[in-house]
Amino acid sequence: MKNNLSNIKKSKYYLDKGECVAIPTETVYGLAGNAYSNKATLKIFKLKKRTKKNPLIVHYNNLKMLSKDCITNSHFFKLYKKFCPGPLTFVLRLKKSTKISKYVTNSQNTLAVRFPNHLLTKKLLKLLNYPLAAPSANISTKISPVSIEDVKEEFGNKIKFILDGGRSKIGLESTIISLVDKPRILRLGGMERSKINKLLKKNIKFDKKEKINVPGQSKLHYSPGIPIKLNIIKPKSHEAFILIKKRKKSDKNYYYLSKTKNLKEAAKNLYKILRKIKNKNYKSIAVEKIPNIGFGEAINDRLKRASTK
Ligand code: TXA
Ligand code: MG
Repeated sequence: MKNNLSNIKKSKYYLDKGECVAIPTETVYGLAGNAYSNKATLKIFKLKKRTKKNPLIVHYNNLKMLSKDCITNSHFFKLYKKFCPGPLTFVLRLKKSTKISKYVTNSQNTLAVRFPNHLLTKKLLKLLNYPLAAPSANISTKISPVSIEDVKEEFGNKIKFILDGGRSKIGLESTIISLVDKPRILRLGGMERSKINKLLKKNIKFDKKEKINVPGQSKLHYSPGIPIKLNIIKPKSHEAFILIKKRKKSDKNYYYLSKTKNLKEAAKNLYKILRKIKNKNYKSIAVEKIPNIGFGEAINDRLKRASTK
């Protein structure tokens, strides 16, 4: 993380010109571009090979900037006060006067917004007079990146610059909550659902079926490109085996998500391990049962989608 300031300035230089830069966040790395620019946002879709039907998340540094683009409400302020900056994305209604590019939203009237909690990215956002559209910095449907090495693996030298912010602390994408009507969770992720429920004093449903078209939330996703089988007790000898906690007796095809069945640690390691296994040329992956509580909910969700054929 050397030369932070000059690297932040370099990122700004490219972003101001309408180029894409990969940025660190506490969840995963994002492929960022000026959210007000058609040119920059079109580049994001092209680089990721992403369908334009799948809208982008926009990253803000403060409420003042957000209020230019979105209509807020009381649920938003409650959650914002408690959890932002942090791994929570809000879907809000767009203001008519917004300058957000139509490509970001696929011309719809809602916007997904987030306040990332990473020092370098916060500093970068402060220097810009526009918010940053930034989907995860991976080729569409592939594994999200949690370090600059991962970003390089995805894009080679196709992007202008990667701002190195070290390994992502959370390692799973943000939780998405829609506040357009009744609060609904659209994606499980880095913010545990129980914390949101506690604050809003209700049980917010996980409801993948947003009214708008959001392919990223249902189809094959987060995929290492080889079959994944879940809830396995005994793997086949040629398979990579992902376990939730370390065993005394280990094999070279064993990969541990955590030492002691810690689900937060497991979430952080999930994508790194999937990427490692993919690069070792295994033909399939077996995963032992992961408890479906806390971060386990999001881990199981990602594994299920990664295993969709
Ligand atoms: O942690 C994260 O959220 C990371 C970092 C870089 O911030 N970003 C991220 O972006 O995961 P992406 O594009 O990979 O996932 C965003 C998801 C997509 O599934 C998209 O369909 C959904 O958010 N989305 C975007 N705009 C939406 C909207 N207006 N309504 C509902 N879902 C939306
Ligand atoms: Mg993604």
